[in-house]
This record gives sequence, structure tokens and C-alpha cells, in this order.
Amino acid sequence: MDKLAKTSLNYYLSEYLEDLKRAGVREVWRDSTRQDAPAPNSVAATPSARRKPRTPSQTPLQTPKDTAPASRVATANILPVLERPAANPVCASRDAQLKALAERVAQCALCDELAASRTQTVFGSGNPCAELTFVGEGPGAEEDLRGEPFVGRSGKLLTDMIEKGMGIPRSSVYICNIVRCRPPANRNPTESEARACRPFLEATLDVVQPRFICCLGSIAANNLLGTSVPIGRLRGEVHEYRGAQVVCTYHPAYLLRNPAAKKDAWQDLQLLMRIMGLELPKR
Ligand code: URA
Repeated sequence: MDKLAKTSLNYYLSEYLEDLKRAGVREVWRDSTRQDAPAPNSVAATPSARRKPRTPSQTPLQTPKDTAPASRVATANILPVLERPAANPVCASRDAQLKALAERVAQCALCDELAASRTQTVFGSGNPCAELTFVGEGPGAEEDLRGEPFVGRSGKLLTDMIEKGMGIPRSSVYICNIVRCRPPANRNPTESEARACRPFLEATLDVVQPRFICCLGSIAANNLLGTSVPIGRLRGEVHEYRGAQVVCTYHPAYLLRNPAAKKDAWQDLQLLMRIMGLELPKR
């Protein structure tokens, strides 16, 4: 298994355990009848390669001493579910809720100009159980054609920021935009367009329930946080949106035009990684 696949598996594993915890499950036992259970130091037995170790009281895998010996503690029966995240009932339910929302967005005609000019709406994509959600501005030409956020040049850079920078798979995060239709000629969305789309943004975040949000650019940051403070001053601090910790950074399109700002964006990603408990690369 390559490094990305291992990280992906570990990420889903810790996500799944968090969901079990949220659902009230306090114990997870290995199926002791399985012969092919992973070795204690294998990927499958490790909650996450990139996360810092949790304190004992935070460890989601707990074995009551009186019922199961330590050798039974592991995750063997969780792995097939993690390889098919949609089979995780919590994620499947969130996925269904997002699909229902996306259908409503597809019918939306609140903004005359956007509804008339779009090829299709661009709802969002990614892991419906993501701990981390990226919020961009609005779809561009490529996204409008493909119906998916961040699939053009900016999207390629965003993918690199997530995968090469943060060391987590893009498929482990959720990605959406302030507005779900392409503003013609890539103009900024207007205040009234952002206001009209706000219920969809809020509903999306209510379903995914990310613990961390990364705003990409000033339009995303200002609209999500309800402020007009410039992005340069929002960076470097952790903000809050309905209990989620929010980090703001430059929009990938800005970084493509101003490569010198990539070092600042990397600082922002490292702040995000620190608060998420992800291991920073050793340099
Ligand atoms: N820029 C954005 O803000 N969102 C996208 O989906 C693509 C480019």
C-alpha cells in the first residue's frame, strides 16, 4: 500500500472512530476469531500515522479490563467499512442529506443572472464525514462545466496544498463554495448572491459537521465569518464558526498569480495542521 493510501486509510479509521464516539459507542473490539488481524504496529492497528497520539482519556479504542484482554483490542472488523466509507452508516446518512440538498440547489433560481448563465450548479464534493472543510468563493468555468468544485487550475493547486502540503488525501476533506453557481466572467459574487446562497452553505456545514474549516480567500472568509476585515489580517489567527475552528488563507487563484505568497499560505496550512493535531513535516 503506498503512503497516500495508508494515510487515507488511517484518516478514515480515525474519522470512523470519532463518529462512533459521537454516536455514543465507547468500546470497539477486534473480532478475535479472525486470523488475519493486523500486527500491533501495522497500519490497521494504528489510529493515524499523521495524528499526534491522543492522551489515554481521549483514546477512542477502549477495552474494559474485565471483559477483553489487550490482545483483542483492534479494528479488524472496521477495516472493510473504512475501505468503503459510504458503507459507514453515519457517512451514508450525511451523503444522502447532501444529495438531497444538492437537488434543491439545482432547482434554485434566486439569482436571476447566475441561474440564467450557469451550465449547472456546483454543490460541493468530498467526504461527507470530513473533519476539515475548505470553503472557496464560487465555481469557475471548468467547475461550471464539470459540476464539481476546484477542478480547474486553482483546484490542482488546492489538491497539492492538501495532499503534498498537509499530507492528507483530498478525498478525506469536503470542499464547497460560498455561491453554488458560476458568476459570469469569473467576477466576484455580489453580496446579495452570497446572501441568497447562505442557507445552502449553512446547511452543508450543518450536515458535514467539520471541526475545522479553511476559508480560501477574502470572499470566503468575509462571508463565512461575517466580517470585512481583509484576508491579510484574518490569516494567522484561529476564528470560530458555530463551534468549528476556522483558519483563513489566500485563494489558490491568488497564489497562482502571486507565487511569492505561497510561503504565507504554507504558514496558514501549518497552523491548520497544528490545530488538527496533524504531524508537521520534518524539514
Ligand atoms: N475557485 C473557487 O473559489 N471555487 C471553485 O470551485 C473553483 C475556483
